[in-house]
Amino acid sequence: MEKEVKAIILAAGKGTRMKSTQPKVLHKIFDKPLLSWVLDSISALSKKIESIVVIGHSAHEVEDYLNKNYKYVKTTLQKEQLGTGHAAAQALPLLSDFKGLVIITCGDTPLVTTKSLRSLIKYHIENYSDLTVMTTVFDNPCGYGRIIRNTKGEIIKIVEEKDASESIKEIEEVNTGIYCLEWSKIKKAFSELRNNNSQGEYYLTDIIKWARDNSLKVLGYKNPDNREMYGVNSRIDLAQAFDMMNQRHLDELMVKGVTIYDRHSTYISPETTICEDSVIFPNTYIEGKNYIATCCKIGPMAHLRGNCEIGEGSKIGNFVELKNAKVAKKTNVCHLSYIGDAKIGSNVNIGAGTIFANYNSITKEKKTSVIADGVSIGSNSVIVAPVELKEDSFVGALSCVTKDVEADSLVINRAPIKEIKNWVKNKKEKI
Ligand code: UD1
Ligand code: CA
Repeated sequence: MEKEVKAIILAAGKGTRMKSTQPKVLHKIFDKPLLSWVLDSISALSKKIESIVVIGHSAHEVEDYLNKNYKYVKTTLQKEQLGTGHAAAQALPLLSDFKGLVIITCGDTPLVTTKSLRSLIKYHIENYSDLTVMTTVFDNPCGYGRIIRNTKGEIIKIVEEKDASESIKEIEEVNTGIYCLEWSKIKKAFSELRNNNSQGEYYLTDIIKWARDNSLKVLGYKNPDNREMYGVNSRIDLAQAFDMMNQRHLDELMVKGVTIYDRHSTYISPETTICEDSVIFPNTYIEGKNYIATCCKIGPMAHLRGNCEIGEGSKIGNFVELKNAKVAKKTNVCHLSYIGDAKIGSNVNIGAGTIFANYNSITKEKKTSVIADGVSIGSNSVIVAPVELKEDSFVGALSCVTKDVEADSLVINRAPIKEIKNWVKNKKEKI
């Protein structure tokens, strides 16, 4: 990309339809806020891209989140939520002398991909456009702004659902809320927007008509994949967006050679990489960034909570939860275990019901345990972090391991077994 690109993300709205005390853009899909999905798609365009997030409703919460997770992102405050046009205008002081392209997008469209944003920019540049709006076609366009074209096929304006006549409501081409602007030419539009519409808001969509009236070139880039443009306005939309994001990723994984038996009960975050010939069994939930190598078996009923690496040919079985765990090759964690904050070697066998006690609820600290290659942990054991179990050591079933274990040692700390002969018989005789 020769032109410098900056982005404005609109995230000041209340999200009334969510019926929530939390700002809409912080509602999550796969444990990651809607806003974060949008920001990551933008950031992947280029490392040095500058993003400006317009905050307003619950500004402190959104700002806190951004400060913790996106230090490089700038924010600007929209004190009153007077509409999308007014929101975008709040970025003007940060872009006063900017000469490049500005992408404007909404913080509530988490499915948008970097590929589509790149295509929009390419289309804009190649066609010498001044303002390009990304459009798409929905069978049910209800709720979206409709794209009005003249007989030559040129976009002349956008009409919001609430301002639309019955015939305009029939139009299936909609505004996705994503635009590419030749900033120095379009920025003047923001001071000329008016709020004479049914909602009494300053609509960002009115920059289209403004640009036409000012003899600038306005184009539409029609995105063939309308699923990307799905906007989240309600909890029902949130569930739908979650499903769409999940199904899209499951498709990508299957195309790459991962077996997934039941797409309706398998949930895998798009941030998780799974290599070919791995098999994911039903009722598996995988969130966050994880890496699963080839020929692994995951599930049924497994839960990976992020920052996990599973080596080639390893098995994570039913009712196993993993968090921040590195598991090397050919290791089995087959049943009923919790593995949190652990480094586990290859050819390790972790018996059913093994728990890694990684959290101290008094100090609030989490500690890591290290399990070397070839270790065998008997069923129902507790590994109290931080401990290190060296190579080929063996933990007897039902042990509570609170100290490091030498290589090749057996460690066992359950009470010795005791058999009392005729105990039952004697009891019964006394009744
Ligand atoms: C908007 C578009 C519509 C488009 C749709 C795509 C306008 C007028 N309408 O409608 O044409 O089809 O997106 O999803 O632009 N926001 C602010 N400040 C405000 C108002 C909104 O920051 O004062 C933010 C919201 O937080 C949200 C985004 O702008 O992230 C869009 O606002 P929303 O109210 O959801 O607009 P839509 O009705 O979906
Ligand atoms: Ca919306």
